[in-house]
Amino acid sequence: MDTLKQLLNRNQAWAESVREEDPEFFARLSAQQNPKYLWVGCSDSRVPANQIMGLAPGEVFVHRNIANIVPLDDDNALSVIQFAVQALQVQHIIVCGHYGCGGVQAALDNVALDPPVDDWLQPVKQMVKDHRDDLDALGEQERARSLCEWNVLAQMKQVCKTSIVQSAWAAGQSLRIHGWIYDLNDGILKPLCPSVASPS
Ligand code: CO
Repeated sequence: MDTLKQLLNRNQAWAESVREEDPEFFARLSAQQNPKYLWVGCSDSRVPANQIMGLAPGEVFVHRNIANIVPLDDDNALSVIQFAVQALQVQHIIVCGHYGCGGVQAALDNVALDPPVDDWLQPVKQMVKDHRDDLDALGEQERARSLCEWNVLAQMKQVCKTSIVQSAWAAGQSLRIHGWIYDLNDGILKPLCPSVASPS
Protein backbone atom coordinates (compact mmCIF):
# COMPACT_ATOMS: atom_id res chain seq x y z
CA MET A 1 0.00 0.00 0.00
CA ASP A 2 0.98 3.57 -0.72
CA THR A 3 2.83 4.88 2.36
CA LEU A 4 0.91 8.17 2.45
CA LYS A 5 -2.33 6.23 2.35
CA GLN A 6 -0.96 4.25 5.25
CA LEU A 7 -0.44 7.45 7.23
CA LEU A 8 -4.04 8.50 6.67
CA ASN A 9 -5.27 5.07 7.71
CA ARG A 10 -3.15 5.18 10.83
CA ASN A 11 -4.55 8.61 11.61
CA GLN A 12 -8.11 7.27 11.43
CA ALA A 13 -7.22 4.40 13.72
CA TRP A 14 -5.57 6.80 16.15
CA ALA A 15 -8.54 9.20 16.22
CA GLU A 16 -10.85 6.28 16.81
CA SER A 17 -8.78 4.92 19.70
CA VAL A 18 -8.66 8.38 21.33
CA ARG A 19 -12.46 8.69 20.99
CA GLU A 20 -12.96 5.25 22.49
CA GLU A 21 -10.97 6.18 25.55
CA ASP A 22 -12.37 9.71 25.88
CA PRO A 23 -15.45 10.43 23.73
CA GLU A 24 -15.29 14.18 24.51
CA PHE A 25 -11.56 14.57 23.77
CA PHE A 26 -11.78 16.26 20.37
CA ALA A 27 -14.87 18.31 21.21
CA ARG A 28 -13.12 19.65 24.32
CA LEU A 29 -9.84 20.41 22.52
CA SER A 30 -11.45 22.02 19.50
CA ALA A 31 -13.13 24.54 21.79
CA GLN A 32 -9.83 25.79 23.23
CA GLN A 33 -6.18 25.01 23.86
CA ASN A 34 -4.73 25.59 27.29
CA PRO A 35 -1.13 24.35 27.31
CA LYS A 36 1.06 25.13 30.33
CA TYR A 37 4.29 24.73 28.39
CA LEU A 38 6.08 26.20 25.41
CA TRP A 39 8.73 23.94 23.93
CA VAL A 40 11.56 25.49 21.91
CA GLY A 41 13.49 22.61 20.39
CA CYS A 42 15.32 21.26 17.38
CA SER A 43 13.49 20.11 14.23
CA ASP A 44 15.30 16.76 14.46
CA SER A 45 12.77 13.97 13.83
CA ARG A 46 14.12 12.06 16.81
CA VAL A 47 13.12 14.72 19.34
CA PRO A 48 9.31 15.04 19.23
CA ALA A 49 8.24 17.22 22.18
CA ASN A 50 4.87 15.63 22.99
CA GLN A 51 6.06 12.06 22.79
CA ILE A 52 9.21 12.34 24.87
CA MET A 53 7.40 14.21 27.65
CA GLY A 54 4.38 11.90 27.53
CA LEU A 55 2.01 14.77 26.70
CA ALA A 56 -1.26 14.56 24.78
CA PRO A 57 -2.36 16.99 22.03
CA GLY A 58 -3.21 20.32 23.65
CA GLU A 59 -0.63 20.11 26.42
CA VAL A 60 2.42 21.76 24.86
CA PHE A 61 2.79 24.66 22.41
CA VAL A 62 5.75 23.96 20.14
CA HIS A 63 8.39 25.85 18.19
CA ARG A 64 11.11 23.85 16.48
CA ASN A 65 13.89 24.88 14.15
CA ILE A 66 17.33 23.63 13.20
CA ALA A 67 19.57 23.64 16.30
CA ASN A 68 16.91 25.27 18.55
CA ILE A 69 18.10 28.81 17.96
CA VAL A 70 16.25 31.93 19.11
CA PRO A 71 17.58 34.92 17.15
CA LEU A 72 16.13 38.18 18.48
CA ASP A 73 15.27 39.25 14.93
CA ASP A 74 13.47 36.04 13.98
CA ASP A 75 9.77 36.87 13.61
CA ASN A 76 8.85 33.21 13.57
CA ALA A 77 10.38 32.31 16.95
CA LEU A 78 9.34 35.63 18.51
CA SER A 79 5.73 35.30 17.32
CA VAL A 80 5.48 31.84 18.85
CA ILE A 81 6.92 33.08 22.16
CA GLN A 82 4.62 36.12 22.09
CA PHE A 83 1.48 34.07 21.48
CA ALA A 84 2.46 31.46 24.06
CA VAL A 85 3.21 34.03 26.77
CA GLN A 86 0.58 36.68 26.09
CA ALA A 87 -2.41 34.75 24.73
CA LEU A 88 -1.93 31.25 26.14
CA GLN A 89 -0.23 32.42 29.35
CA VAL A 90 2.08 29.41 29.47
CA GLN A 91 3.87 29.04 32.80
CA HIS A 92 7.02 27.41 31.47
CA ILE A 93 9.25 27.83 28.43
CA ILE A 94 11.49 24.82 27.89
CA VAL A 95 14.47 25.45 25.63
CA CYS A 96 15.65 21.98 24.72
CA GLY A 97 18.68 20.92 22.71
CA HIS A 98 19.90 17.43 22.03
CA TYR A 99 23.23 15.65 21.87
CA GLY A 100 24.14 14.59 18.35
CA CYS A 101 22.54 17.71 16.83
CA GLY A 102 23.48 17.91 13.14
CA GLY A 103 23.14 21.69 13.06
CA VAL A 104 25.46 22.15 16.03
CA GLN A 105 27.92 19.65 14.55
CA ALA A 106 27.93 21.50 11.20
CA ALA A 107 28.73 24.74 13.01
CA LEU A 108 31.47 23.03 15.00
CA ASP A 109 33.01 21.55 11.85
CA ASN A 110 32.55 24.90 10.08
CA VAL A 111 30.89 23.11 7.17
CA ALA A 112 30.19 25.50 4.27
CA LEU A 113 26.45 25.06 3.67
CA ASP A 114 24.27 26.89 1.16
CA PRO A 115 22.08 29.74 2.29
CA PRO A 116 19.75 30.06 4.06
CA VAL A 117 20.83 27.32 6.47
CA ASP A 118 24.39 28.66 6.54
CA ASP A 119 23.10 32.04 7.75
CA TRP A 120 20.73 30.36 10.15
CA LEU A 121 23.60 28.55 11.91
CA GLN A 122 25.64 31.75 12.24
CA PRO A 123 24.90 32.20 15.99
CA VAL A 124 26.30 28.72 16.70
CA LYS A 125 29.30 29.34 14.43
CA GLN A 126 29.95 32.54 16.38
CA MET A 127 29.77 30.57 19.62
CA VAL A 128 32.42 28.20 18.24
CA LYS A 129 34.68 31.19 17.52
CA ASP A 130 34.06 32.71 20.95
CA HIS A 131 34.81 29.42 22.75
CA ARG A 132 37.63 28.18 20.50
CA ASP A 133 40.09 27.65 23.38
CA ASP A 134 37.55 25.91 25.62
CA LEU A 135 36.52 23.63 22.76
CA ASP A 136 40.11 22.78 21.80
CA ALA A 137 40.77 21.68 25.38
CA LEU A 138 38.14 18.94 25.06
CA GLY A 139 38.16 15.54 23.33
CA GLU A 140 36.20 15.23 20.09
CA GLN A 141 33.02 13.71 21.55
CA GLU A 142 33.01 15.95 24.59
CA ARG A 143 33.51 18.98 22.35
CA ALA A 144 30.30 18.32 20.41
CA ARG A 145 28.33 17.48 23.55
CA SER A 146 29.53 20.62 25.33
CA LEU A 147 28.65 22.83 22.37
CA CYS A 148 25.13 21.36 22.33
CA GLU A 149 24.84 22.24 26.03
CA TRP A 150 26.30 25.75 25.65
CA ASN A 151 23.92 26.41 22.79
CA VAL A 152 20.93 25.60 25.02
CA LEU A 153 22.23 27.96 27.72
CA ALA A 154 22.82 30.72 25.15
CA GLN A 155 19.36 30.32 23.58
CA MET A 156 17.78 30.23 27.03
CA LYS A 157 19.43 33.62 27.67
CA GLN A 158 18.04 34.89 24.38
CA VAL A 159 14.52 33.89 25.43
CA CYS A 160 14.99 35.71 28.75
CA LYS A 161 16.18 38.81 26.86
CA THR A 162 13.07 39.11 24.67
CA SER A 163 10.84 42.07 25.47
CA ILE A 164 7.96 39.57 25.62
CA VAL A 165 9.46 37.68 28.57
CA GLN A 166 10.81 40.85 30.21
CA SER A 167 7.35 42.48 30.04
CA ALA A 168 5.65 39.37 31.41
CA TRP A 169 8.01 39.36 34.40
CA ALA A 170 7.55 43.11 34.93
CA ALA A 171 3.78 42.54 35.00
CA GLY A 172 4.19 39.82 37.64
CA GLN A 173 3.23 36.94 35.33
CA SER A 174 4.44 33.56 36.55
CA LEU A 175 6.85 32.37 33.87
CA ARG A 176 9.83 30.07 34.26
CA ILE A 177 12.49 29.49 31.59
CA HIS A 178 14.17 26.07 31.56
CA GLY A 179 17.25 24.78 29.73
CA TRP A 180 17.17 21.05 29.03
CA ILE A 181 19.05 18.61 26.85
CA TYR A 182 17.86 15.32 25.36
CA ASP A 183 20.04 12.27 24.89
CA LEU A 184 19.24 10.33 21.71
CA ASN A 185 21.06 7.31 23.17
CA ASP A 186 18.73 6.72 26.11
CA GLY A 187 15.73 8.99 25.54
CA ILE A 188 16.37 10.93 28.74
CA LEU A 189 15.80 14.68 29.22
CA LYS A 190 18.16 16.45 31.60
CA PRO A 191 17.97 19.99 33.04
CA LEU A 192 21.26 21.81 32.41
CA CYS A 193 20.86 24.61 34.95
CA PRO A 194 18.40 26.05 37.48
CA SER A 195 15.34 27.57 35.82
CA VAL A 196 15.04 31.35 35.55
CA ALA A 197 11.90 33.10 36.77
CA SER A 198 12.89 36.76 36.95
CA PRO A 199 15.23 39.27 35.27
CA SER A 200 18.82 38.67 36.43
CO1 CO B 1 19.32 19.08 16.21
